[in-house]
Order: sequence, then structure tokens, then C-alpha cells
Amino acid sequence: MTKVRVDASRAYDIVIERGLLDRAGEYIRAATGAKKAVVVTDANVAALYLERVCASLRAVGLETETFTAQAGEGAKSLAVYGELLEFLSRGGLTRTDTLVALGGGVIGDLTGFAAATYQRGTGFVQLPTTLLADVDSSVGGKTAVNLPTGKNQVGCFYQPHLVLCDPDALGTLPDEQYRCGCAEVIKYGVLGNEAFFEELKTPVSEQVEHVIETCVKMKRELVMRDEFDRGARQLLNLGHSFGHAVEACSDFTILHGQAVAVGMAMIARAAAKRGFCTQETASRIVSLLQRYKLPTETDFTAAELFAAVGADKKRTGATMHLVVPEEIGKCRIVPVPFSDVRGWLQDGGAR
Ligand SMILES: NC(=O)c1ccc[n+]([C@@H]2O[C@H](COP(=O)([O-])OP(=O)(O)OC[C@H]3O[C@@H](n4cnc5c(N)ncnc54)[C@H](O)[C@@H]3O)[C@@H](O)[C@H]2O)c1
Repeated sequence: MTKVRVDASRAYDIVIERGLLDRAGEYIRAATGAKKAVVVTDANVAALYLERVCASLRAVGLETETFTAQAGEGAKSLAVYGELLEFLSRGGLTRTDTLVALGGGVIGDLTGFAAATYQRGTGFVQLPTTLLADVDSSVGGKTAVNLPTGKNQVGCFYQPHLVLCDPDALGTLPDEQYRCGCAEVIKYGVLGNEAFFEELKTPVSEQVEHVIETCVKMKRELVMRDEFDRGARQLLNLGHSFGHAVEACSDFTILHGQAVAVGMAMIARAAAKRGFCTQETASRIVSLLQRYKLPTETDFTAAELFAAVGADKKRTGATMHLVVPEEIGKCRIVPVPFSDVRGWLQDGGAR
């Protein structure tokens, strides 16, 4: 068992251990002191793990209810958020009770936002079941739902009371989703840890506990330095500015992790062309992504991507902050005039 302590505006533990879903109740009761828990999940995860988690909660005397949303990004909507709040209210959940997010990043973001806002804040525990949620979305307290006009447009920072990662849950994750999580894992290697980047030549699936621990420790450092995402935490956007554009151009048919992989490859190529890193550094990034069968090219044109980038919320006024690799394990935030972004996209390989 590994425990990683995060000292943010709320201090909490991330526990990593195989079989943890069956012991969730003990940990949740100790961390929240709740009398009642509402487990929020999606239809896919419910069929696999919901009963086990509920049994463990009931075994420690917690009154337990469940709310199952549709699977997929559609659950991060104002409509589902509203249904969830009404469900909590009708069931008489109080501020001293807790919500438990059992699922991937979609369920974590939705549940976190409900926990932050229902009665101005209830208990909140994350039980991530995707690799992306293990290494990224369950840590750091970003919560959100989407608007028809854009992703994550409504949300807030609300740190969880506890995060329980059970690597065994990844055993049922579809291969494509697993690889998407690997894109985020590779991002951590490029951002801050060359030795870890090299270790990723051994498949993530053969060292998953070590991978989760390394990534959450790196995320913890950035969250503790910059909880509210005004500076260093923005490094976590490596590959995301162009990745979001690829996602948006595809009408979200390309998965987030695949789009981030393309975005990382593009920024690496552009960085090499513009002298921020060597060609060798860019090639190492692209070939590690390809090793995990992740896409590194896009058919969208620079003009199409540029239009999508313009609509991305990360553009602040006339300047865009791109996260640019300098070496493996070292990136920096480069302010780029918006008018130059199209050139960066072309240097990244877009026609
Ligand atoms: N809050 C943050 O800091 C943060 C960071 C990164 C991403 N995100 C958000 O995370 C979301 C993406 O998360 P995701 O990639 O985990 O997607 P997801 O939650 O949609 O899960 C992906 C798919 O896998 C299924 N699934 C989940 N766990 C499973 C398991 N163990 N076995 C079988 N199937 C399983 C789900 O039902 C779903 O169909 C996006 O909305 C993104 O905005 C948030």
C-alpha cells in the first residue's frame, strides 16, 4: 500500500493499493466521518464495481445510495448535474455526509462539482477507475461540467477528502481508454522526469502502481505550488492547447488522450523547428507516443485548428501560453502572440 499526502487548501491522502475497492468503506468513514454516502457512477462502471463498493460502505455502517449516470462525456452536463442535486436533496443528504465518485474523469468532475456546490460543500471522495483519472483528474480539485458552447465552462476548485486508487479496476478498461491514460503518463515524463520517461519504455501495464505513484507525486508538487492554476500548474497543459483543437475539430470523436498525444507531438516538432529543443528530443517524444500506439499526426489543416484554438478558453486575450519542451524532463511556458499560433501549428506538422 502506498499513501501520498497532498497539502492543498484541504489536506488529503491518495491511497494506492490493489483490491482497495473492497475496503473503501473503512477509509471513507475514517476520512469523512459521514453517516451517509451517495455513490455516483456511470452505467459501464456500475455493472462492474458498484455492488462491491456499496457492500464495503454498508459493512462499516454507512447508509448508502447510488446515482448512475449515462457513460461518456454527456454526463458532464447541466442537466445531469441538476438531476444529481435534486436526487441528493430528495434523499436528505446533509453537509456532513459524502459523495463518492466511482468512475473516470467524467464522473469525478461531475461529482466534484456537485459536492462543492450542494449545500455549499459536502464530503467528496474519488475512486478513479480509469488510468487518466488515477494519474490526473482525481488529484488537484478541478471540478466542472460542460456547456453546449464548450468543455469545462462551469466549475470550481474543490479538493477531495480522499482518493482511493485500485489498480485492479484497470483490468476491465478498454484498450483504447488505457492508451489514452498512457498519453497523460508520458506527459509527466516529458514535463519533469527524464528517468521516468525512460522507464516508460517498459509497458505501463507492467508497472502500474509505480506509474500512478510517480504521476500523482508530480501532480501534487504542481498543485501545492499553484493550486488555482495561475502559474506552474499550467505546465500540465502540455499537449493540451493543440490537443483541444484536434478534439474540437473532430467533434469529439477523437478521444481526449489521443488528441493530447497529437498535441504533444505537434508542440515537440514545432519546438524543435523554432530552436527550443533539439530534433532528437522531439523524435524521442514522438517515438514513445508511437510505442503506445497513440496518434502523432492530424489531417486537420492549420487553418481549421487555428479557428478551434481561438475558441479555446485557455487563450487569454491576445496571448496564448504554450507549454514547450526544452529537454526531456524540462518544459517551459512560452507566451505566444495569438497571431503567431498558426505558424506554430504549421511547424507542428499541420498542413
Ligand atoms: N479534473 C481534472 O483535473 C481533469 C484532468 C483531466 C481530464 N479531466 C476530464 O476527465 C474526463 C475524461 O476522463 P476519462 O478519460 O476517465 O473518461 P470517462 O470517465 O468517460 O471514462 C472513459 C470510459 O471508460 C469507461 N470506464 C471507466 N472505468 C472503467 C473500467 N474500470 N472498466 C471498464 N470501463 C470503464 C467509462 O464508462 C467510459 O465509457 C474529461 O471530461 C476531462 O475533461 C479532468
